[in-house]
Amino acid sequence: RLRGSILHLCRRVSTGEVVMEAGKRAAARYAVDTYVKGNQALGIGSGSTIVYAVERIAERVKDEKLHLLCVPSSFQAQQLITQHNLTLSDLDRTPELDVAIDGADDVDSNLSAIKGGGGCLTQEKIVASCAKQFIIIADDRKDSKQLGEAFKKGIPVEVIPMAYVPVMKKIEKLGLKPILRMARAKAGPVVTDNSNFIIDCQFDKVYDWKELNTQLNLIPGVVETGLFVGMAECAIFGKPDGTITKR
Ligand code: 5RP
Repeated sequence: RLRGSILHLCRRVSTGEVVMEAGKRAAARYAVDTYVKGNQALGIGSGSTIVYAVERIAERVKDEKLHLLCVPSSFQAQQLITQHNLTLSDLDRTPELDVAIDGADDVDSNLSAIKGGGGCLTQEKIVASCAKQFIIIADDRKDSKQLGEAFKKGIPVEVIPMAYVPVMKKIEKLGLKPILRMARAKAGPVVTDNSNFIIDCQFDKVYDWKELNTQLNLIPGVVETGLFVGMAECAIFGKPDGTITKR
């Protein structure tokens, strides 16, 4: 078993995955240390980078006795909050948040972002929209000049299951290439926390992202898109050596 684990680790090192964990961790810790203060309501994003942020929040709550309420953006985020003994809240009780911190799949030079690689985009966008400050954290592979450089799957769009075929046809008419996201081993479509499907919309040119987001959201059956335009206060990118850049 040990040999298996070492081989697995080596494979991850050879793909650069382990190295990128240092970047994710650095970005997450910087964000928490810079933007989180006591007596705040926080939005907690989803994905692998947010795990480091929640770890740091938990350390600070313990060491500095901070009083914080945490609102999750997914089932994963809810689990993280409870596993770290943080105070779980929701948007019914806490509709206004001070800071939301979340990962991203691709961020361009205007801070437009693609999110939803993990399929949590709708709740992530709702939570981010309720925050005074929305902070993106990521490793520096996500730092792009143009959207599409870092994330090749396209723009994730959450759809009501009964509408996925007509929605795909309408997305095609907008010039995008829609692909229904399938679970591993093609065991059926990926199902979101909201019991919906995800359509990944590939593109081959630069759009007016705000306008494209509007066009996609106008299609009946679309719940939300993974285009986050004009929402982020800043993006923090971590490098493998543990340093960060902030935009
Ligand atoms: C999930 C998301 C994630 O925040 C995004 O995919 C980034 O994930 P990671 O931190 O694992 O790179 O949008 O829907």
